[in-house]
Amino acid sequence: MINKCLFPAAGYGTRFLPATKATPKEMLPILTKPLIQYGVEEAVEAGITTMAIVSGRGKRAIEDHFDISYELEHQIKGGSKEELLDEIRSLIEKCTFSYTRQIEMKGLGHAILTGETLIGNEPFAVVLADDLCQNDEAGVLEQMKKVYEKYQCSVVAIEEVPMDETQKYGVIAGKLVDGTEDTYRVSDMVEKPEPKDAPTNLAIIGRYILTPDIFDILRNTKAGKGGEIQITDALLEQAKQGRVIAYKFKGKRFDCGSVDGFVEATNWFYDRMKS
Ligand code: UTP
Repeated sequence: MINKCLFPAAGYGTRFLPATKATPKEMLPILTKPLIQYGVEEAVEAGITTMAIVSGRGKRAIEDHFDISYELEHQIKGGSKEELLDEIRSLIEKCTFSYTRQIEMKGLGHAILTGETLIGNEPFAVVLADDLCQNDEAGVLEQMKKVYEKYQCSVVAIEEVPMDETQKYGVIAGKLVDGTEDTYRVSDMVEKPEPKDAPTNLAIIGRYILTPDIFDILRNTKAGKGGEIQITDALLEQAKQGRVIAYKFKGKRFDCGSVDGFVEATNWFYDRMKS
């Protein structure tokens, strides 16, 4: 069973400066909803209600968002705007939120290791809220949970990207599992390879299910590409033992950590709301 979802949300979000100088990237809205709320909704849809958030300096707005705002709620009570808070209220009622801080921003792998104190010794999901995923049927985490239940090992979500974009992603190599068209047993992983060095164009996006032995591996993982502790390097240790599945998810993904992806998501959700 996957009961907990970790949200590494300590990054600086430099691609969105100056907006992210005092506002966490995860709080930037697509229409009226902050990115991290979409991520929490996806986890809830997958049956997960324990949210563990790795935050950092300047990220207080995330905690305030998943809390009651007495003055505001008193002010709009009984009026037409009250329903605008329905979704967030229902999340607050259903879920628990706990927080820990990453003191030094030493990369995604380090952020996940920082979350160990909130996760403990059990398999868990990871959502990078700046990858916004959408599917009309089962959400991406729900799809991945099913894959985890079948294979009982770490699962990464992948999508095919243009070959000239491999340097933005962790890229996998692997063999399709017999009888499937979307499930690979991973044999190799490379962090942000140049196209000429990339084994495939199958890129890891911001959804993972990890088994808890990943924490010990991360503790022993040295800084890699960009001087950061990379989750890809730690996953490679599991992959060498045949314990990583890559799953080509159904649905759309918007890279809301980039301005182009953010605008694309905004337009897509706006068109959908209007139609
Ligand atoms: P990114 O690579 O998108 O980095 O991190 P970033 O700092 O958020 O944004 P840019 O590149 O400067 O614009 C991927 C995910 O890992 C988290 C981020 O919050 C984001 O969810 N992260 C990254 C951490 O929590 N801690 C880190 O040290 C690095």
